[in-house]
Amino acid sequence: MAGNNEAEAGMAAGGEGVQTFHQPVLLAEILALFERIRKERALVMDCTLGAGGHAQAILSMYSSVTYIGIDADPEARKRAAERLSPYSSRLEVLGGYFDEVLSDYAVDLARAKPDFIFFDLGLSIHQLQGSRRGFSFAVDEALDMRFSPDTEVSAYDLVNTMREEELANLIYKYGEEKLSRRIARAICEARQRAPIRTSAALASIVSGAVPSAYRHSRIHPATRTFQALRISVNDELGREERALAKAVELLAPGGILAVISFHSLEDRVAKLLCREYGRNRGFEDIYNPPLVPGDEECSRNPASRSAKLRALRAPTQGIGDPSTGGMP
Ligand SMILES: C[S@@+](CC[C@H](N)C(=O)[O-])C[C@H]1O[C@@H](n2cnc3c(N)ncnc32)[C@H](O)[C@@H]1O
Repeated sequence: MAGNNEAEAGMAAGGEGVQTFHQPVLLAEILALFERIRKERALVMDCTLGAGGHAQAILSMYSSVTYIGIDADPEARKRAAERLSPYSSRLEVLGGYFDEVLSDYAVDLARAKPDFIFFDLGLSIHQLQGSRRGFSFAVDEALDMRFSPDTEVSAYDLVNTMREEELANLIYKYGEEKLSRRIARAICEARQRAPIRTSAALASIVSGAVPSAYRHSRIHPATRTFQALRISVNDELGREERALAKAVELLAPGGILAVISFHSLEDRVAKLLCREYGRNRGFEDIYNPPLVPGDEECSRNPASRSAKLRALRAPTQGIGDPSTGGMP
């Protein structure tokens, strides 16, 4: 989950203790999509294993499926591997950022082509609630926001070292925050007094920088700033773009690529890919407009509210050649 729903999930994390385990978003829709594969021994590549919610549903329902789960976060991999231990003979867990893992996978000729490649972008409730990495303004933790400890630059580094103008541009570009200049100015003023070390300190600086009407809107005033920093720290949009381009190449004939996104910037990347491959490369653009959760799911799991599912199906004869109008 990501984007505005972080506010809601973060609030739950902040004290009400409403949600304790990550609930897989659009699960029924993902299972229905997977049904279309109709292949006994399908290979699934789950690029955002997270808490293993989608993985558990697929592995428990389909006893011949082989599953590869990727996550950059070692704590997520550990949690998922424990939860999925009954299926360990059919499960391989790979560590690293998905764009890099998919590139390595593509050059390994011994590897089979996946029938179903799946992205459930953003972060899980476990990262928001208690990862000690400051993803949420509702929990006071060290400002870090790295999915992987191997990532060099953290949110602390960005907030405490970037030039004011660059910081404003970052908050505007990745947070779509109209008040980015004010917020960047307040951050730079505050850090002259002392480094900004925690998520709560940053949230309070952002709240203090915006007009009071903004402070009383439905989402917390720091939501967009936190989103922007997290996207930048983990290069989320660049990785999504590279990984989706690799995923369509990797798909087995007739295979399906599914992407759940949680904010407009993420969705745009998936939308452009679906449009290009649907119109010019012989793929089926399965959902246009994208599928969104129903009222029941939104009220049961507020974090799902901004989710959008897009999916592409590869031609059965292999990837189409754009010069032949997408015919294989
Ligand atoms: C929304 S959660 C997935 C939840 C999962 N589908 C479930 O049902 O439990 C997203 C996960 O993707 C991981 N992730 C996000 N971006 C990533 C990237 N570029 N490479 C690898 N993992 C990533 C996060 O660490 C997080 O654990």
